[in-house]
Amino acid sequence: MSVTIHDLAAWKAEGKRFAMLTAYDFPTARILDEAGIPLLLVGDSVANVLGYENTLPVTMQEMLHHTRAVTRGARNALVIGDMPFLSYQVSVEEGVRNAGRFLKEGGAQAVKIEGPQVELTHRLTELGIPVMAHVGLTPQAVHGMGGYRVQGRGDEAARRIAEEAQALEKAGAFSIVLEGLPSGLGAEITSSVRIPTIGIGAGPGTDAQVLVLHDLLGLSDRLPRFAKAYANLRTEIGDAARAFADDVSSGAFPDEEHSYPA
Ligand code: KIV
Repeated sequence: MSVTIHDLAAWKAEGKRFAMLTAYDFPTARILDEAGIPLLLVGDSVANVLGYENTLPVTMQEMLHHTRAVTRGARNALVIGDMPFLSYQVSVEEGVRNAGRFLKEGGAQAVKIEGPQVELTHRLTELGIPVMAHVGLTPQAVHGMGGYRVQGRGDEAARRIAEEAQALEKAGAFSIVLEGLPSGLGAEITSSVRIPTIGIGAGPGTDAQVLVLHDLLGLSDRLPRFAKAYANLRTEIGDAARAFADDVSSGAFPDEEHSYPA
C-alpha cells in the first residue's frame, strides 16, 4: 500500500520513528522504494549531483526532470518535490503555480518549502497540495545566514524557530524538516507540534530522520558532522572503474563469456 500523509500522522501518534532519504533518479528511487523507505525527497540538494556550488542555481525544469524520474521509480513511497530557490518567494500566486507543477507534471504527492512561508502553506493546503515545511538551517538562505551555521542558539533565536514551526503546523503543513538545530531545540519543537518532525542535524529527539543519499552512500566529497556514511561507494566505484580499465588494457575483457558466439 502506498504511503500517504495520513500514515505519517498515525506514526507520530503511535511514536513510530521513520526515515526519509533524498532520491534524484529512477533506479535509485526503485531501490529505496523496494528497501521500504517510506518518504523520498527529490531535494534541491540535487545541486550537488549537478555540480553546482550550492542549491541556489537549481531551476524548476531541473527539479521537475528529476521528480519525474523518481516518481516513475517509486511504487509505495510518498514522493516530495523540493521547491527551488525563487520558485515560491516572489508571490503566493507564483508559489501555487510552481507547487502545482510538482504534482501535475512531476507526479509528486507533496512539496517541501524552506522557511516560514505561512501564507503559501495555508493556500496550498486549502488547494489540496500537501506541504512539508522546513525551518532552522535553510540552505537556500545560505548568504543571509552568513554560511551553513547551526541555527536557534540562544533563547531568542530558539523561540523564533519554535514559533515558526507552530505557525506552519497551524497553516496546515503535514510535517516539518528541522535542520541544523541544537538537539534540545529539535526535541522541544517535536513535543510542541502534532505533525511529525524530520530531523537533519537536529539531534535524536525528532520523530524521523532524513539524510542526503550521497552522504549515506559515501559518495560526497565532505561529510557534514551530522551525516553518517553507511557505505563507501566512492571507493567501490573507483575500484570497479580501475578493474575494468585494467582488464581492457590486459585483454582480459571481454572474454568468451561476455561475447556472442558465431
Ligand atoms: O534538499 C535536500 O536534500 C533537503 C534535505 C537536506 C532536507 O532539503
